[in-house]
Amino acid sequence: MTGETTHNLRGDYSGMRPDYTVEQAWAAYSPAEHELWRRLCARQAALVPQFACREFIDSLATLDFSAAIPRFDEVNAKLARATGWQIVAVPGLLPDRVFFGHLASRRFPVTVWLRKPEEFDYIVEPDVFHDFFGHVPLLFDPAFADYLQAYGQGGLKADRLGAIEMLSRLYWYTVEFGLIETLAGIRAYGAGILSSGGELPYCVGSGEPNRIRFDLLRIMRTRYKIDTFQETYFVIRDFRELFEATEPDFTPYYEALARFDPVPAGTVLPTDRLAG
Ligand code: PHE
Ligand code: CO
Repeated sequence: MTGETTHNLRGDYSGMRPDYTVEQAWAAYSPAEHELWRRLCARQAALVPQFACREFIDSLATLDFSAAIPRFDEVNAKLARATGWQIVAVPGLLPDRVFFGHLASRRFPVTVWLRKPEEFDYIVEPDVFHDFFGHVPLLFDPAFADYLQAYGQGGLKADRLGAIEMLSRLYWYTVEFGLIETLAGIRAYGAGILSSGGELPYCVGSGEPNRIRFDLLRIMRTRYKIDTFQETYFVIRDFRELFEATEPDFTPYYEALARFDPVPAGTVLPTDRLAG
């Protein structure tokens, strides 16, 4: 995900290259970190069959990276064959322009460090578990992979137009917290929920949050909270819907949206269509 700033972040940004990438330094992970990774994977893997979308389940089964923190170069060989994406190791959150530039070139930045054991249930900044477990499986899906690259290109444009806040909401409500309709009911495809032990069952099964049919302009008006479960999720029909809705030039959308007030995270509008 994108970050506003690289100040006061916990990663080590001192030895990075100009594009913010670093070596993964896989040999430096400790046995305790691999053990923590296994526990995180085991908890999520038990939830995935019931709550994740088919594309995520399928990728996870073929990849099977539950035994230890994966080597990025090994997954890159498989990704290159599947969709031409690569993952690159980074110290943590990146400045928006750097992040968008990587996505636009089909490179997904993955944080190298793993959370501490006491952060098993909750972590504020994305770590290697969120970035890898949550995001990498869908990079194997051709339709989603194309959407994410287009998003990166759109990000570079939004940056020039001063519209990053609106476009970041789209990333939040799709790539991080998106839900999708399936024959088995509503399922999760967003990485922020797929990597969360608490929010994955909640977003699909709880009666509390709003689940609203995907609507591009509605999403780009909607605020979000980064430190609680979401109050609202948006539901797509399939990844093609996402790709097609976001294909037009957003320049006139940004101009129109600038005249509206943002919608608070929990609000349901009379024009919303509820999903499920
Ligand atoms: N079509 C968008 C634009 O012109 C780019 C974009 C694509 C944004 C996909 C988000 C997702 O800005
Ligand atoms: Co993320």
